[in-house]
Amino acid sequence: MSARSKQFIMVAIPVALLIIIAGFFFFTRHNQDLAEGPVGEIAANEPRSEVWGAFYPRHWDSYQANYENSDNPSHFETKPYLKTMYAGIGFAAEYNEPRAHVYTLDDIRAIDPARKKSGAACNTCKSSQIPEMINKYGDKYYLMTFEEINQQLTEPIGCLDCHDPKTMKLRISRPALIEALERQGRDLNKISNQEMRTLVCAQCHVTYYFLPESKKLTFPWDKGVKADEILAYYDEKGFTETVHPIAGSGLVKPRHAEYETFIGSTHESAGLACADCHMPYTRVGNVKISSHDWSSPLNRIEQSCTTCHRNGVDWLRGRVEGIQKQCKETQDLAGEAILETIAELKISRETTGVNQEKLQQAMDLHRKAQWYLDYVVVTNGYGFHNPTETLNNLSKSIDYAHKSTRLAREARGLN
Ligand code: HEC
Ligand code: HEC
Ligand code: HEC
Ligand code: HEC
Repeated sequence: MSARSKQFIMVAIPVALLIIIAGFFFFTRHNQDLAEGPVGEIAANEPRSEVWGAFYPRHWDSYQANYENSDNPSHFETKPYLKTMYAGIGFAAEYNEPRAHVYTLDDIRAIDPARKKSGAACNTCKSSQIPEMINKYGDKYYLMTFEEINQQLTEPIGCLDCHDPKTMKLRISRPALIEALERQGRDLNKISNQEMRTLVCAQCHVTYYFLPESKKLTFPWDKGVKADEILAYYDEKGFTETVHPIAGSGLVKPRHAEYETFIGSTHESAGLACADCHMPYTRVGNVKISSHDWSSPLNRIEQSCTTCHRNGVDWLRGRVEGIQKQCKETQDLAGEAILETIAELKISRETTGVNQEKLQQAMDLHRKAQWYLDYVVVTNGYGFHNPTETLNNLSKSIDYAHKSTRLAREARGLN
């Protein structure tokens, strides 16, 4: 054997041995990983998303990405008129834009105490533990204090809110939506999967109110889900949530009506669901999953929109921004008009000998004007979900505000 061959063997044998040993460890470890994967099944009421995550690691990673959506600036920075509109209610103390589902508990705990007066029900859209709480306390849940429920919560929005742990099918976990659909005469067993991809969101992204006596969380949809129909529902019941301390008008407060606004829009009538834009299919390795990172679709136009729209990302972004800019401009006009209304109502109320009938009519018109503007302001998407309806609501707001202002002045003899 030559010196060279000897040298080769002395290197090759240890190297080969090393590869075999390393390979052995790699495969046994890898197999152990597989063997150590989750066994058993997810418990019926498991609110901890990380337990589900062990079974669905790709979805868990996608859910974790929500932490990056952490900005929640104040609405007052861009809509200064809201402070006066909200005078007398908790929203005047603090009203921020929303951020990701994983921050719900942090945000509700950090909120100004004025906003917590509404009680336990404020927690309803903030935690996957709520359905069990409602089960446990029954209708007493709604009469409990904010803290009594809040201090028991450890989990933000999670898997249990939208999925049946046994079958992973989409499910509705919130009683208020089930009851509202039943009052509409819907058969809950006959809802298509595509509609469920919207209804899971409609558990929370809707407007609501608390019934006067029982404080029960209720969706005001019995006359329909459009802004006019919801206001007509409140008017018929003679329901007023607050009296404006400056204007004296009895008001009702809309909340994040994304679902209601989406119904009847171009995209809804074309058959889309919330999940089509907000949970698009995303490639992870060699599989595709529905993204569980709920945020602005503008962050991923390629996945959310260009499957249907072929005019390119920049064109589409321009369309969305154009719609939002026009809605915002009109919204600001309505805001100015309502500030003027509130100022005129204030003067008339402080004037002696005013025509009470005209003053009351002016207050009723202020209720309408503020309803339509507030409905648009609190609905996320800045008008995109239904541009024509949004502008229609804003034009009603402006018209009612001007009529209210005129009557408030007439009530004290001006014209
Ligand atoms: C806000 C509602 C919501 C929450 C919360 C949620 N999901 Fe989903 N999930 C959906 C929707 C909508 C789909 C799409 C279902 C369909 O198209 O049939 C889906 C689909 C899935 C699927 C089926 C495969 C796929 O990607 O389409 C799995 C598995 C899944 N989710 C796991 C999870 C896990 C694990 C969690 C918690 C970490 C979770 N989901 C939280 C709404 C939700
Ligand atoms: C259990 C209640 C609940 C359900 C179900 C739910 N959401 Fe939400 N969602 C919220 C709350 C509350 C926030 C605001 C969280 C915060 O700011 O702390 C939010 C925030 C969001 C945001 C982020 C907003 C922003 O400005 O960054 C998006 C997008 C969103 N949700 C879309 C959806 C979609 C789409 C669905 C259905 C697939 C859905 N949500 C289901 C309660 C819910
Ligand atoms: C055709 C696509 C599409 C559909 C369908 C859709 N959205 Fe949106 N959504 C958008 C766009 C675009 C925005 C604006 C994002 C922005 O301004 O950055 C938005 C904004 C939002 C926001 C605020 C998020 C943010 O970052 O400002 C929420 C919450 C939301 N949508 C919920 C819903 C719900 C709930 C549904 C179903 C009832 C729905 N969306 C249906 C496209 C869609
Ligand atoms: C499943 C198909 C589909 C997806 C996905 C989709 N759209 Fe559309 N979109 C339509 C259809 C259909 C119309 C009706 C007009 C048409 O035929 O082009 C429309 C109309 C529009 C319009 C003009 C109508 C209006 O309401 O002003 C805009 C803007 C728009 N889409 C933006 C978006 C954006 C942004 C996304 C992604 C966040 C998106 N679309 C996702 C199918 C889709």
